[in-house]
Amino acid sequence: MQLLVTGGAGFIGSHFIRLVLAEHPEARVVNLDKLTYAASPANLASVEDDPRYRFVQGDITDAAVVAEAMAGCTHVVNFAAESHVDRSIHGAVDFITTDVLGTWVLCDAARSAGVDRYLQVSTDEVYGSTEGRPFQEDDPLRPSSPYSASKAGGDLQALAYMHTHGLPVVVTRGSNTYGPNQYPEKLIPLFVTNALDGEPLPVYGDGRQVRDWIHAEDHARGILTALLEGVPGEVYNVGGSNERENIWITRQVLELVGAGDDLIRYVADRPGHDFRYALDSSKLMALGWSPRIDLAEGLASTVQWYRDRRDWWEPIKSGEFREFYQRQYEERLHAAVRS
Ligand code: NAD
Ligand code: TYD
Repeated sequence: MQLLVTGGAGFIGSHFIRLVLAEHPEARVVNLDKLTYAASPANLASVEDDPRYRFVQGDITDAAVVAEAMAGCTHVVNFAAESHVDRSIHGAVDFITTDVLGTWVLCDAARSAGVDRYLQVSTDEVYGSTEGRPFQEDDPLRPSSPYSASKAGGDLQALAYMHTHGLPVVVTRGSNTYGPNQYPEKLIPLFVTNALDGEPLPVYGDGRQVRDWIHAEDHARGILTALLEGVPGEVYNVGGSNERENIWITRQVLELVGAGDDLIRYVADRPGHDFRYALDSSKLMALGWSPRIDLAEGLASTVQWYRDRRDWWEPIKSGEFREFYQRQYEERLHAAVRS
């Protein structure tokens, strides 16, 4: 098994590469990553010297780079994406370029290379918001943010490649993921690192929105199961079955950090904010997968990781992140309501 993993220097992709190399001694991995602001090559320090691992810096929209990186590969797993909803609201061109066009370039190269499997890493956000039962794989796609619309475009492009050209495609749609190595723009790492620094936690709207949380290790194992056991042409939901309101997560983080509720700020809501995501993952469970990490334990170990690894996140928060943070939060925090 020779894998091309794209976006492997990011959050979930790096968990996936470490998992594959640990559990499959025969596997070789090429990691193609552009190293955008969201990448942390340090995530892969433990496998850097492994002779089965090779890193290629490059863009998935560049057909020549992709063809070279894919040469000899039997499996392709596409994690590479612009992944943050708030950034997609500020401007979506990078999302459309990487998440849609990049997926097409990869599918086209995979078809020419004749790979055994192409796995597209997608998201529960393509279904839109639900107030009813958890989403199943054949539910309609109703993406509502520029991010989720781009992901839906990539997801459908990959499935169309199967339908039209016979490329053996599997799609996974994962739920909100947390754990070590997550760039601190997303809810949990932002709130943990802010709380560790005694900074306010900006809760959008009333904080009653619901997300279904899964640990990155469980998400990575779900993707690997779908890659190895999934049926081409099929979609598999990968959810944690841990639905929680954002305010519950916020209070849990504060408790684990040992900070007070006085850090909570209710700020202006995200435009078009999806109220609730929830996934029915029984189809993937039928292939032998189930999430292993309990949410309370996973949150506690994640908070501990950020406590121990200031060397990982402090340089991030003082770099490009600072400009984004100002743009995203300065006005909101100025007008905020304390809890
Ligand atoms: P991330 O933002 O942490 O990492 C993305 C990686 O992709 C980075 O290393 C970046 O450098 C790379 N990349 C971006 N554009 C690229 C390009 N054009 N060419 C090559 N590399 C490029 O993302 P993540 O949170 O690990 O998410 C990984 C995948 O999982 C994404 O496809 C995302 O949509 C999906 N997903 C994420 C979540 C979540 O909660 N984080 C949930 C469900 C699905
Ligand atoms: P996020 O981590 O951005 O993931 P997604 O938008 O892909 O679900 O946000 C998770 C939830 O937390 C979402 O309902 C928005 C909310 N949120 C806040 O309330 N404040 C914040 O500063 C952030 C980043 C998110």
